[in-house]
Amino acid sequence: MTKILITSALPYVNGVKHLGNLIGSLLPADVHARFRRQVGDEVLFICATDEHGTPAELAALRAGEEIGAFCARQHAIQADIYRRFGLSFDYFGRTSSPQNATLTQHFYRRLDAAGLIDERELQQVWSPVDQRFLPDRYVLGTCPHCGHGEARGDQCDGCGALLDPDELIAPRSALSGDTSLEIRSTRHLFLRQSKLVERLRGWIDQRSDWPAFVVSTAKSWLTAELQDRCITRDLAWGVPVPRAGFESKVFYVWFDAPIGYIAATQEWAAAAVDRDWRRWWWQAKDVRYIQFLGKDNVPFHAVSFPATLLGSGEPWTTVDVIKGFHWLTYEGGKFSTSAQRGVFTDAALEELPADLWRWWLIANAPESADTDFSVQRFVADVNKDLADVFGNLANRIISFSHVAFDGRIPEGGEPSALELELGAEFDQRIVSLRRHHEALEFRAAAAETRAIWRAANAYLQQAAPWTAIKSDRLKAAVATRTGLNLVRLSAVLAWSIIPELSEKVLAAFGRGGVVPDWPIKPCGELLDGDAGNPVAKLAPIVSKISADKTGHLARRFGVA
Ligand code: 2FM
Ligand code: ZN
Repeated sequence: MTKILITSALPYVNGVKHLGNLIGSLLPADVHARFRRQVGDEVLFICATDEHGTPAELAALRAGEEIGAFCARQHAIQADIYRRFGLSFDYFGRTSSPQNATLTQHFYRRLDAAGLIDERELQQVWSPVDQRFLPDRYVLGTCPHCGHGEARGDQCDGCGALLDPDELIAPRSALSGDTSLEIRSTRHLFLRQSKLVERLRGWIDQRSDWPAFVVSTAKSWLTAELQDRCITRDLAWGVPVPRAGFESKVFYVWFDAPIGYIAATQEWAAAAVDRDWRRWWWQAKDVRYIQFLGKDNVPFHAVSFPATLLGSGEPWTTVDVIKGFHWLTYEGGKFSTSAQRGVFTDAALEELPADLWRWWLIANAPESADTDFSVQRFVADVNKDLADVFGNLANRIISFSHVAFDGRIPEGGEPSALELELGAEFDQRIVSLRRHHEALEFRAAAAETRAIWRAANAYLQQAAPWTAIKSDRLKAAVATRTGLNLVRLSAVLAWSIIPELSEKVLAAFGRGGVVPDWPIKPCGELLDGDAGNPVAKLAPIVSKISADKTGHLARRFGVA
Protein backbone atom coordinates (compact mmCIF):
# COMPACT_ATOMS: atom_id res chain seq x y z
CA MET A 1 0.00 0.00 0.00
CA THR A 2 1.36 3.41 -0.99
CA LYS A 3 0.86 6.49 1.18
CA ILE A 4 -0.56 9.31 -0.92
CA LEU A 5 -0.72 12.80 0.53
CA ILE A 6 -3.00 15.10 -1.46
CA THR A 7 -3.53 18.80 -0.92
CA SER A 8 -5.68 21.23 -2.82
CA ALA A 9 -4.76 24.92 -2.91
CA LEU A 10 -6.41 26.53 0.08
CA PRO A 11 -9.41 28.65 -0.97
CA TYR A 12 -9.44 32.19 0.38
CA VAL A 13 -11.98 32.55 3.11
CA ASN A 14 -13.36 35.85 1.83
CA GLY A 15 -16.40 34.54 -0.03
CA VAL A 16 -18.04 31.64 -1.84
CA LYS A 17 -15.86 30.27 -4.65
CA HIS A 18 -16.83 29.91 -8.32
CA LEU A 19 -16.59 26.92 -10.68
CA GLY A 20 -13.17 28.10 -11.84
CA ASN A 21 -11.85 27.74 -8.30
CA LEU A 22 -13.50 24.34 -8.02
CA ILE A 23 -11.91 22.86 -11.14
CA GLY A 24 -8.62 24.71 -10.56
CA SER A 25 -7.67 22.54 -7.60
CA LEU A 26 -10.42 21.27 -5.24
CA LEU A 27 -12.32 18.95 -7.58
CA PRO A 28 -9.42 17.23 -9.38
CA ALA A 29 -7.77 16.69 -5.99
CA ASP A 30 -10.96 14.99 -4.81
CA VAL A 31 -11.24 12.81 -7.92
CA HIS A 32 -7.66 11.69 -7.48
CA ALA A 33 -8.11 11.02 -3.76
CA ARG A 34 -11.17 8.90 -4.50
CA PHE A 35 -9.40 6.98 -7.26
CA ARG A 36 -6.42 6.30 -4.98
CA ARG A 37 -8.72 4.99 -2.29
CA GLN A 38 -10.37 2.73 -4.86
CA VAL A 39 -7.06 1.16 -5.80
CA GLY A 40 -6.29 0.56 -2.14
CA ASP A 41 -3.70 3.25 -1.42
CA GLU A 42 -3.59 4.90 1.98
CA VAL A 43 -4.76 8.44 1.25
CA LEU A 44 -4.70 11.62 3.27
CA PHE A 45 -6.55 14.47 1.56
CA ILE A 46 -6.12 17.82 3.26
CA CYS A 47 -7.50 21.26 2.61
CA ALA A 48 -8.34 24.39 4.64
CA THR A 49 -9.56 27.93 4.24
CA ASP A 50 -6.82 30.51 3.68
CA GLU A 51 -7.88 33.08 6.25
CA HIS A 52 -5.22 35.74 6.62
CA GLY A 53 -4.27 38.70 4.48
CA THR A 54 -5.91 41.85 3.25
CA PRO A 55 -8.74 40.34 1.16
CA ALA A 56 -10.20 38.69 4.27
CA GLU A 57 -9.72 41.83 6.32
CA LEU A 58 -11.43 43.98 3.68
CA ALA A 59 -14.29 41.53 3.18
CA ALA A 60 -14.95 41.48 6.94
CA LEU A 61 -14.89 45.24 7.00
CA ARG A 62 -17.36 45.38 4.15
CA ALA A 63 -19.59 42.87 5.93
CA GLY A 64 -19.36 44.98 9.11
CA GLU A 65 -18.21 41.97 11.06
CA GLU A 66 -15.33 41.31 13.41
CA ILE A 67 -12.68 39.47 11.39
CA GLY A 68 -12.53 36.32 13.55
CA ALA A 69 -16.31 35.89 13.46
CA PHE A 70 -16.38 36.63 9.73
CA CYS A 71 -13.79 33.94 9.00
CA ALA A 72 -15.55 31.36 11.19
CA ARG A 73 -18.83 31.99 9.40
CA GLN A 74 -17.32 31.92 5.94
CA HIS A 75 -15.33 28.79 6.73
CA ALA A 76 -18.54 27.01 7.74
CA ILE A 77 -20.30 28.16 4.56
CA GLN A 78 -17.50 26.87 2.34
CA ALA A 79 -17.19 23.60 4.28
CA ASP A 80 -20.89 22.95 3.77
CA ILE A 81 -20.73 23.66 0.03
CA TYR A 82 -17.73 21.35 -0.43
CA ARG A 83 -19.49 18.60 1.52
CA ARG A 84 -22.47 18.93 -0.82
CA PHE A 85 -20.13 18.80 -3.81
CA GLY A 86 -18.88 15.46 -2.50
CA LEU A 87 -15.36 16.68 -1.77
CA SER A 88 -13.98 13.93 0.42
CA PHE A 89 -11.40 15.79 2.49
CA ASP A 90 -9.98 13.84 5.36
CA TYR A 91 -9.78 17.23 7.00
CA PHE A 92 -10.83 20.74 6.06
CA GLY A 93 -8.99 23.03 8.43
CA ARG A 94 -8.28 26.73 8.85
CA THR A 95 -5.05 28.67 8.55
CA SER A 96 -6.15 30.76 11.54
CA SER A 97 -5.77 27.66 13.75
CA PRO A 98 -3.43 27.70 16.75
CA GLN A 99 -1.49 24.89 15.06
CA ASN A 100 -0.73 27.11 12.08
CA ALA A 101 0.40 29.99 14.28
CA THR A 102 2.76 27.75 16.23
CA LEU A 103 4.16 26.07 13.14
CA THR A 104 4.60 29.33 11.20
CA GLN A 105 6.54 30.80 14.11
CA HIS A 106 8.57 27.59 14.30
CA PHE A 107 9.59 27.90 10.64
CA TYR A 108 10.47 31.53 11.12
CA ARG A 109 12.75 30.65 14.07
CA ARG A 110 14.46 27.85 12.15
CA LEU A 111 15.03 30.10 9.13
CA ASP A 112 16.33 32.87 11.38
CA ALA A 113 18.72 30.46 13.12
CA ALA A 114 19.96 29.35 9.70
CA GLY A 115 20.84 32.95 8.80
CA LEU A 116 18.09 33.13 6.19
CA ILE A 117 16.12 36.05 7.68
CA ASP A 118 17.11 39.65 7.14
CA GLU A 119 15.63 42.74 8.74
CA ARG A 120 15.26 45.66 6.32
CA GLU A 121 13.72 49.10 6.34
CA LEU A 122 10.93 49.99 3.87
CA GLN A 123 8.99 53.13 3.13
CA GLN A 124 5.24 52.67 3.40
CA VAL A 125 2.03 54.62 3.39
CA TRP A 126 0.81 55.63 6.86
CA SER A 127 -2.68 56.92 7.58
CA PRO A 128 -2.88 59.27 10.56
CA VAL A 129 -6.68 58.84 10.69
CA ASP A 130 -6.58 55.01 10.59
CA GLN A 131 -3.46 55.04 12.79
CA ARG A 132 -1.90 52.27 10.72
CA PHE A 133 0.24 51.46 7.73
CA LEU A 134 -1.84 50.77 4.65
CA PRO A 135 -1.11 47.82 2.39
CA ASP A 136 -0.83 48.90 -1.25
CA ARG A 137 -4.32 47.79 -2.11
CA TYR A 138 -5.77 49.87 0.75
CA VAL A 139 -4.65 53.03 -0.99
CA LEU A 140 -7.07 54.34 -3.63
CA GLY A 141 -6.67 57.22 -6.04
CA THR A 142 -6.62 58.32 -9.66
CA CYS A 143 -4.58 56.27 -12.10
CA PRO A 144 -1.73 58.31 -13.63
CA HIS A 145 -2.07 56.33 -16.87
CA CYS A 146 -5.78 56.25 -17.66
CA GLY A 147 -7.39 58.60 -15.15
CA HIS A 148 -9.54 55.86 -13.58
CA GLY A 149 -10.64 57.31 -10.23
CA GLU A 150 -10.76 54.06 -8.26
CA ALA A 151 -7.27 52.71 -9.01
CA ARG A 152 -5.64 50.75 -6.17
CA GLY A 153 -2.11 51.22 -4.95
CA ASP A 154 -1.06 47.87 -6.42
CA GLN A 155 -2.95 47.89 -9.71
CA CYS A 156 -5.43 49.86 -11.79
CA ASP A 157 -8.52 47.89 -12.77
CA GLY A 158 -9.25 50.50 -15.44
CA CYS A 159 -6.16 49.89 -17.58
CA GLY A 160 -4.48 46.95 -15.83
CA ALA A 161 -1.26 48.90 -15.08
CA LEU A 162 0.75 47.72 -12.07
CA LEU A 163 1.21 50.64 -9.71
CA ASP A 164 2.97 51.77 -6.60
CA PRO A 165 0.86 53.74 -4.11
CA ASP A 166 3.00 56.88 -4.50
CA GLU A 167 2.12 57.02 -8.21
CA LEU A 168 -1.59 57.55 -7.50
CA ILE A 169 -2.99 61.02 -7.96
CA ALA A 170 -4.95 62.28 -4.91
CA PRO A 171 -4.39 59.12 -2.86
CA ARG A 172 -6.75 58.25 -0.03
CA SER A 173 -7.27 55.43 2.46
CA ALA A 174 -9.69 52.71 1.35
CA LEU A 175 -10.61 52.28 5.02
CA SER A 176 -11.50 55.79 6.11
CA GLY A 177 -11.06 57.99 3.05
CA ASP A 178 -8.19 59.74 4.86
CA THR A 179 -6.34 62.00 2.41
CA SER A 180 -3.61 63.10 4.81
CA LEU A 181 -1.47 60.06 3.95
CA GLU A 182 2.25 60.08 4.75
CA ILE A 183 5.19 57.91 3.81
CA ARG A 184 6.89 56.49 6.88
CA SER A 185 9.68 54.00 7.49
CA THR A 186 8.79 50.58 8.74
CA ARG A 187 10.95 47.50 9.38
CA HIS A 188 10.23 44.15 7.78
CA LEU A 189 11.65 40.65 7.62
CA PHE A 190 12.91 39.13 4.39
CA LEU A 191 13.45 35.48 3.62
CA ARG A 192 16.79 35.33 1.83
CA GLN A 193 15.65 33.10 -1.00
CA SER A 194 18.70 34.23 -2.98
CA LYS A 195 20.83 32.08 -0.68
CA LEU A 196 18.70 29.03 -1.47
CA VAL A 197 18.86 29.09 -5.26
CA GLU A 198 21.27 26.20 -5.66
CA ARG A 199 19.43 24.02 -3.15
CA LEU A 200 16.13 24.77 -4.87
CA ARG A 201 17.55 24.07 -8.30
CA GLY A 202 18.91 20.71 -7.13
CA TRP A 203 15.57 19.90 -5.57
CA ILE A 204 13.58 20.83 -8.69
CA ASP A 205 15.92 18.76 -10.87
CA GLN A 206 14.96 15.71 -8.84
CA ARG A 207 11.22 16.19 -9.54
CA SER A 208 10.42 14.11 -12.58
CA ASP A 209 6.63 14.23 -12.61
CA TRP A 210 5.80 17.90 -12.91
CA PRO A 211 3.93 19.11 -16.00
CA ALA A 212 6.28 20.94 -18.38
CA PHE A 213 4.72 24.35 -17.77
CA VAL A 214 5.16 23.95 -14.01
CA VAL A 215 8.87 23.13 -14.43
CA SER A 216 9.41 26.04 -16.80
CA THR A 217 7.59 28.45 -14.47
CA ALA A 218 9.66 27.26 -11.53
CA LYS A 219 12.91 27.45 -13.48
CA SER A 220 12.17 30.91 -14.79
CA TRP A 221 11.95 32.06 -11.20
CA LEU A 222 15.30 30.49 -10.43
CA THR A 223 17.18 31.75 -13.48
CA ALA A 224 16.11 35.34 -13.03
CA GLU A 225 17.82 36.43 -9.85
CA LEU A 226 15.58 35.04 -7.14
CA GLN A 227 14.36 37.94 -5.06
CA ASP A 228 14.48 37.85 -1.30
CA ARG A 229 10.91 37.83 -0.12
CA CYS A 230 9.29 40.13 2.41
CA ILE A 231 7.46 37.80 4.79
CA THR A 232 5.92 40.30 7.21
CA ARG A 233 3.15 42.88 6.97
CA ASP A 234 1.86 45.81 9.00
CA LEU A 235 -1.51 44.25 9.76
CA ALA A 236 -3.27 43.13 12.92
CA TRP A 237 -4.89 40.01 11.44
CA GLY A 238 -2.50 37.12 10.90
CA VAL A 239 0.18 35.10 12.69
CA PRO A 240 2.10 37.34 15.12
CA VAL A 241 5.84 37.77 14.50
CA PRO A 242 7.78 36.63 17.59
CA ARG A 243 10.55 39.23 17.39
CA ALA A 244 11.31 42.38 19.38
CA GLY A 245 10.09 45.45 17.52
CA PHE A 246 7.58 43.42 15.49
CA GLU A 247 4.78 43.33 18.04
CA SER A 248 2.34 45.13 15.73
CA LYS A 249 3.13 43.01 12.67
CA VAL A 250 2.11 39.65 11.31
CA PHE A 251 3.53 37.21 8.79
CA TYR A 252 2.59 37.69 5.15
CA VAL A 253 -0.35 35.47 4.20
CA TRP A 254 1.65 33.65 1.52
CA PHE A 255 4.22 32.70 4.18
CA ASP A 256 1.74 31.06 6.53
CA ALA A 257 -0.81 29.69 4.00
CA PRO A 258 1.18 26.74 2.62
CA ILE A 259 2.41 25.92 6.11
CA GLY A 260 -1.35 25.49 6.63
CA TYR A 261 -1.16 22.19 4.74
CA ILE A 262 0.92 20.77 7.56
CA ALA A 263 -1.02 22.58 10.29
CA ALA A 264 -4.34 21.28 8.95
CA THR A 265 -2.87 17.78 9.13
CA GLN A 266 -2.05 18.51 12.77
CA GLU A 267 -5.67 19.62 13.25
CA TRP A 268 -6.75 16.33 11.64
CA ALA A 269 -4.50 14.40 14.03
CA ALA A 270 -5.79 16.32 17.04
CA ALA A 271 -9.40 15.53 16.12
CA ALA A 272 -9.18 11.78 16.86
CA VAL A 273 -6.98 9.23 18.56
CA ASP A 274 -4.45 7.09 16.66
CA ARG A 275 -3.67 9.73 14.08
CA ASP A 276 -0.09 10.82 13.63
CA TRP A 277 0.65 13.82 11.41
CA ARG A 278 4.35 12.95 11.43
CA ARG A 279 3.69 9.81 9.39
CA TRP A 280 2.86 12.21 6.55
CA TRP A 281 5.15 15.15 7.01
CA TRP A 282 8.21 14.30 9.07
CA GLN A 283 10.88 11.90 7.82
CA ALA A 284 8.10 10.33 5.80
CA LYS A 285 10.10 8.86 2.94
CA ASP A 286 7.30 6.49 1.97
CA VAL A 287 4.86 9.33 1.23
CA ARG A 288 4.10 10.48 -2.30
CA TYR A 289 2.90 14.08 -2.05
CA ILE A 290 0.71 15.56 -4.81
CA GLN A 291 -0.40 19.19 -4.86
CA PHE A 292 -3.29 20.51 -6.96
CA LEU A 293 -3.36 24.20 -7.80
CA GLY A 294 -4.05 26.92 -10.34
CA LYS A 295 -1.25 28.32 -12.49
CA ASP A 296 -1.01 31.57 -10.53
CA ASN A 297 -0.06 29.52 -7.48
CA VAL A 298 2.83 27.67 -9.13
CA PRO A 299 5.67 29.98 -8.02
CA PHE A 300 4.55 29.82 -4.39
CA HIS A 301 4.49 26.02 -4.41
CA ALA A 302 7.44 25.34 -6.68
CA VAL A 303 9.78 27.91 -5.13
CA SER A 304 8.62 29.85 -2.06
CA PHE A 305 7.13 27.07 0.07
CA PRO A 306 10.00 24.69 -0.77
CA ALA A 307 12.37 27.51 0.24
CA THR A 308 10.68 27.57 3.66
CA LEU A 309 10.83 23.79 4.02
CA LEU A 310 14.38 23.28 2.73
CA GLY A 311 15.65 26.38 4.54
CA SER A 312 14.45 24.99 7.86
CA GLY A 313 17.02 22.21 7.55
CA GLU A 314 14.46 19.78 8.88
CA PRO A 315 13.16 16.56 7.27
CA TRP A 316 9.77 17.84 6.04
CA THR A 317 7.94 16.16 3.20
CA THR A 318 8.28 18.19 0.01
CA VAL A 319 6.02 17.90 -2.98
CA ASP A 320 6.59 15.13 -5.53
CA VAL A 321 4.04 16.18 -8.12
CA ILE A 322 2.55 19.61 -8.74
CA LYS A 323 -0.55 19.33 -10.86
CA GLY A 324 -1.14 22.87 -12.08
CA PHE A 325 -4.25 24.01 -13.95
CA HIS A 326 -4.91 26.77 -16.43
CA TRP A 327 -8.01 28.95 -16.14
CA LEU A 328 -11.62 28.11 -16.69
CA THR A 329 -13.06 31.12 -18.48
CA TYR A 330 -16.71 32.03 -18.34
CA GLU A 331 -18.71 32.63 -21.50
CA GLY A 332 -15.63 34.01 -23.22
CA GLY A 333 -14.47 36.22 -20.32
CA LYS A 334 -13.04 35.92 -16.86
CA PHE A 335 -14.70 34.43 -13.81
CA SER A 336 -14.47 37.16 -11.23
CA THR A 337 -15.21 37.04 -7.54
CA SER A 338 -14.98 40.79 -7.08
CA ALA A 339 -17.37 41.42 -9.99
CA GLN A 340 -19.53 38.38 -9.06
CA ARG A 341 -19.23 37.20 -12.66
CA GLY A 342 -19.65 33.49 -13.30
CA VAL A 343 -21.30 30.46 -11.73
CA PHE A 344 -20.67 30.36 -8.00
CA THR A 345 -20.62 27.06 -6.18
CA ASP A 346 -23.62 27.79 -3.94
CA ALA A 347 -25.76 28.88 -6.90
CA ALA A 348 -24.64 25.85 -8.94
CA LEU A 349 -25.97 23.53 -6.22
CA GLU A 350 -29.24 25.44 -6.03
CA GLU A 351 -29.84 24.60 -9.68
CA LEU A 352 -28.58 21.08 -10.29
CA PRO A 353 -27.08 18.07 -8.51
CA ALA A 354 -23.36 18.25 -7.80
CA ASP A 355 -22.43 15.38 -10.11
CA LEU A 356 -23.61 17.21 -13.21
CA TRP A 357 -21.16 20.02 -12.47
CA ARG A 358 -18.47 17.57 -11.40
CA TRP A 359 -18.77 15.62 -14.62
CA TRP A 360 -18.63 18.60 -16.94
CA LEU A 361 -15.76 20.25 -15.11
CA ILE A 362 -13.58 17.14 -15.04
CA ALA A 363 -14.40 16.26 -18.66
CA ASN A 364 -13.38 19.81 -19.63
CA ALA A 365 -10.64 20.44 -17.08
CA PRO A 366 -8.29 23.27 -18.18
CA GLU A 367 -5.25 21.02 -18.12
CA SER A 368 -3.19 22.12 -21.07
CA ALA A 369 -4.86 25.43 -21.90
CA ASP A 370 -7.67 27.66 -20.68
CA THR A 371 -11.16 26.22 -21.26
CA ASP A 372 -14.38 28.13 -21.67
CA PHE A 373 -17.54 27.35 -19.71
CA SER A 374 -20.79 28.09 -21.45
CA VAL A 375 -24.31 27.20 -20.33
CA GLN A 376 -25.16 25.81 -23.79
CA ARG A 377 -22.14 23.51 -23.92
CA PHE A 378 -22.65 22.43 -20.34
CA VAL A 379 -26.28 21.45 -20.94
CA ALA A 380 -25.54 19.68 -24.22
CA ASP A 381 -22.68 17.63 -22.74
CA VAL A 382 -24.43 16.69 -19.52
CA ASN A 383 -27.63 15.69 -21.30
CA LYS A 384 -25.71 13.51 -23.72
CA ASP A 385 -23.19 11.87 -21.41
CA LEU A 386 -25.11 11.53 -18.18
CA ALA A 387 -28.75 11.32 -19.21
CA ASP A 388 -28.63 9.66 -22.65
CA VAL A 389 -25.71 7.35 -22.03
CA PHE A 390 -24.96 6.57 -18.37
CA GLY A 391 -28.42 7.14 -16.90
CA ASN A 392 -30.22 5.45 -19.75
CA LEU A 393 -27.90 2.46 -19.56
CA ALA A 394 -28.56 1.94 -15.86
CA ASN A 395 -32.29 2.58 -15.86
CA ARG A 396 -33.08 0.60 -18.98
CA ILE A 397 -31.43 -2.70 -18.07
CA ILE A 398 -32.38 -2.60 -14.40
CA SER A 399 -36.02 -2.01 -15.24
CA PHE A 400 -35.88 -4.77 -17.86
CA SER A 401 -34.51 -7.18 -15.24
CA HIS A 402 -37.67 -6.45 -13.21
CA VAL A 403 -39.95 -7.04 -16.17
CA ALA A 404 -38.30 -10.25 -17.32
CA PHE A 405 -36.27 -11.73 -14.45
CA ASP A 406 -38.01 -10.79 -11.27
CA GLY A 407 -35.41 -8.15 -10.34
CA ARG A 408 -32.52 -10.61 -10.21
CA ILE A 409 -29.30 -11.02 -12.11
CA PRO A 410 -30.45 -13.96 -14.21
CA GLU A 411 -28.74 -17.34 -14.09
CA GLY A 412 -28.08 -19.76 -16.94
CA GLY A 413 -26.76 -19.61 -20.48
CA GLU A 414 -23.16 -19.34 -21.66
CA PRO A 415 -21.41 -16.15 -22.76
CA SER A 416 -21.06 -16.07 -26.56
CA ALA A 417 -18.23 -14.61 -28.63
CA LEU A 418 -19.91 -11.22 -28.29
CA GLU A 419 -19.60 -11.26 -24.49
CA LEU A 420 -16.04 -12.63 -24.61
CA GLU A 421 -14.95 -9.86 -26.98
CA LEU A 422 -16.64 -7.31 -24.78
CA GLY A 423 -14.77 -8.68 -21.75
CA ALA A 424 -11.45 -8.32 -23.60
CA GLU A 425 -12.31 -4.78 -24.70
CA PHE A 426 -13.21 -3.81 -21.15
CA ASP A 427 -9.99 -5.28 -19.77
CA GLN A 428 -8.07 -2.91 -22.02
CA ARG A 429 -10.28 0.06 -21.30
CA ILE A 430 -9.94 -0.39 -17.56
CA VAL A 431 -6.15 -0.51 -17.83
CA SER A 432 -6.19 2.64 -19.92
CA LEU A 433 -8.55 4.42 -17.52
CA ARG A 434 -6.35 3.52 -14.58
CA ARG A 435 -3.31 4.84 -16.42
CA HIS A 436 -5.02 8.17 -17.06
CA HIS A 437 -5.98 8.53 -13.42
CA GLU A 438 -2.48 7.64 -12.29
CA ALA A 439 -1.02 10.18 -14.70
CA LEU A 440 -3.48 12.84 -13.44
CA GLU A 441 -4.94 13.18 -16.94
CA PHE A 442 -8.44 14.18 -15.97
CA ARG A 443 -9.95 14.95 -19.37
CA ALA A 444 -8.59 11.70 -20.73
CA ALA A 445 -9.95 9.80 -17.70
CA ALA A 446 -13.40 11.29 -18.30
CA ALA A 447 -13.17 10.51 -22.02
CA GLU A 448 -12.32 6.87 -21.30
CA THR A 449 -15.13 6.68 -18.74
CA ARG A 450 -17.52 7.99 -21.38
CA ALA A 451 -16.17 5.48 -23.92
CA ILE A 452 -16.81 2.68 -21.41
CA TRP A 453 -20.44 3.76 -20.97
CA ARG A 454 -20.85 3.99 -24.74
CA ALA A 455 -19.37 0.54 -25.28
CA ALA A 456 -21.76 -0.83 -22.66
CA ASN A 457 -24.69 0.85 -24.39
CA ALA A 458 -23.57 -0.43 -27.78
CA TYR A 459 -23.38 -3.97 -26.39
CA LEU A 460 -26.93 -3.76 -25.07
CA GLN A 461 -28.22 -2.41 -28.38
CA GLN A 462 -26.65 -5.35 -30.13
CA ALA A 463 -27.47 -8.09 -27.63
CA ALA A 464 -30.99 -6.64 -27.21
CA PRO A 465 -32.28 -8.86 -24.38
CA TRP A 466 -35.73 -7.27 -24.82
CA THR A 467 -35.89 -8.87 -28.28
CA ALA A 468 -34.12 -12.11 -27.37
CA ILE A 469 -36.55 -12.79 -24.52
CA LYS A 470 -39.30 -13.43 -27.07
CA SER A 471 -37.52 -16.42 -28.58
CA ASP A 472 -34.53 -17.45 -26.48
CA ARG A 473 -34.76 -16.99 -22.72
CA LEU A 474 -31.21 -18.21 -22.05
CA LYS A 475 -29.73 -15.79 -24.56
CA ALA A 476 -31.74 -13.00 -22.94
CA ALA A 477 -30.47 -14.15 -19.53
CA VAL A 478 -26.83 -13.88 -20.65
CA ALA A 479 -27.40 -10.44 -22.18
CA THR A 480 -29.25 -9.18 -19.10
CA ARG A 481 -26.64 -10.57 -16.71
CA THR A 482 -23.86 -9.03 -18.78
CA GLY A 483 -25.76 -5.77 -19.07
CA LEU A 484 -26.38 -5.52 -15.33
CA ASN A 485 -22.76 -6.27 -14.56
CA LEU A 486 -21.68 -3.67 -17.11
CA VAL A 487 -23.82 -1.12 -15.35
CA ARG A 488 -22.34 -1.94 -11.98
CA LEU A 489 -18.83 -1.83 -13.42
CA SER A 490 -19.55 1.47 -15.16
CA ALA A 491 -20.65 2.93 -11.84
CA VAL A 492 -17.53 1.66 -10.05
CA LEU A 493 -15.27 3.13 -12.73
CA ALA A 494 -17.07 6.49 -12.68
CA TRP A 495 -17.30 6.74 -8.90
CA SER A 496 -14.33 9.07 -8.46
CA ILE A 497 -15.90 11.62 -10.83
CA ILE A 498 -19.65 11.25 -10.14
CA PRO A 499 -19.83 9.65 -6.68
CA GLU A 500 -23.47 10.40 -5.97
CA LEU A 501 -24.86 8.97 -9.21
CA SER A 502 -22.57 5.96 -8.97
CA GLU A 503 -23.64 5.41 -5.40
CA LYS A 504 -27.31 5.26 -6.44
CA VAL A 505 -26.51 2.55 -8.97
CA LEU A 506 -24.28 0.60 -6.61
CA ALA A 507 -26.90 0.78 -3.87
CA ALA A 508 -29.36 -0.95 -6.24
CA PHE A 509 -26.89 -3.82 -6.38
CA GLY A 510 -26.60 -3.88 -2.58
CA ARG A 511 -23.07 -2.49 -2.80
CA GLY A 512 -23.60 1.10 -1.68
CA GLY A 513 -22.03 2.97 1.21
CA VAL A 514 -18.42 1.87 0.73
CA VAL A 515 -15.50 2.85 -1.45
CA PRO A 516 -15.98 0.52 -4.44
CA ASP A 517 -12.80 -1.46 -5.09
CA TRP A 518 -11.13 -0.92 -8.43
CA PRO A 519 -11.79 -4.04 -10.55
CA ILE A 520 -8.79 -6.34 -10.72
CA LYS A 521 -10.38 -9.57 -11.94
CA PRO A 522 -10.46 -10.15 -15.69
CA CYS A 523 -13.59 -8.56 -17.00
CA GLY A 524 -15.05 -11.68 -18.56
CA GLU A 525 -15.45 -13.07 -15.06
CA LEU A 526 -16.95 -9.87 -13.72
CA LEU A 527 -19.48 -9.63 -16.51
CA ASP A 528 -20.61 -13.20 -15.99
CA GLY A 529 -20.80 -12.94 -12.19
CA ASP A 530 -23.31 -12.42 -9.41
CA ALA A 531 -26.05 -14.58 -10.95
CA GLY A 532 -29.03 -14.86 -8.63
CA ASN A 533 -28.32 -11.62 -6.75
CA PRO A 534 -31.21 -9.18 -6.47
CA VAL A 535 -31.18 -5.73 -8.05
CA ALA A 536 -33.44 -3.06 -6.60
CA LYS A 537 -35.67 -0.92 -8.80
CA LEU A 538 -34.04 2.35 -9.67
CA ALA A 539 -35.81 5.66 -10.16
CA PRO A 540 -34.38 7.61 -13.12
CA ILE A 541 -30.95 8.64 -11.89
CA VAL A 542 -30.39 11.62 -14.19
CA SER A 543 -33.13 13.78 -15.66
CA LYS A 544 -32.38 15.59 -18.84
CA ILE A 545 -32.05 19.35 -18.47
CA SER A 546 -35.10 20.72 -20.28
CA ALA A 547 -35.20 23.62 -22.71
CA ASP A 548 -37.04 25.66 -20.06
CA LYS A 549 -34.42 24.94 -17.46
CA THR A 550 -31.68 25.74 -19.97
CA GLY A 551 -33.32 29.10 -20.58
CA HIS A 552 -33.45 29.71 -16.86
CA LEU A 553 -29.77 28.76 -16.44
CA ALA A 554 -28.80 31.01 -19.34
CA ARG A 555 -30.70 33.89 -17.76
CA ARG A 556 -29.22 33.28 -14.35
CA PHE A 557 -25.67 32.40 -15.42
CA GLY A 558 -25.25 33.15 -19.09
CA VAL A 559 -24.01 36.33 -20.59
CA ALA A 560 -26.71 37.80 -22.78
O1 2FM B 1 -4.74 31.60 -4.67
C1 2FM B 1 -5.39 31.24 -3.69
O2 2FM B 1 -6.59 31.01 -3.76
C2 2FM B 1 -4.66 30.99 -2.38
N1 2FM B 1 -5.59 31.13 -1.29
C3 2FM B 1 -4.04 29.63 -2.41
C4 2FM B 1 -3.24 29.29 -1.23
S1 2FM B 1 -2.57 27.75 -1.42
C5 2FM B 1 -1.60 27.48 -0.09
F1 2FM B 1 -0.44 27.88 -0.25
F2 2FM B 1 -2.12 27.78 0.96
ZN1 ZN C 1 -5.37 52.99 -15.18
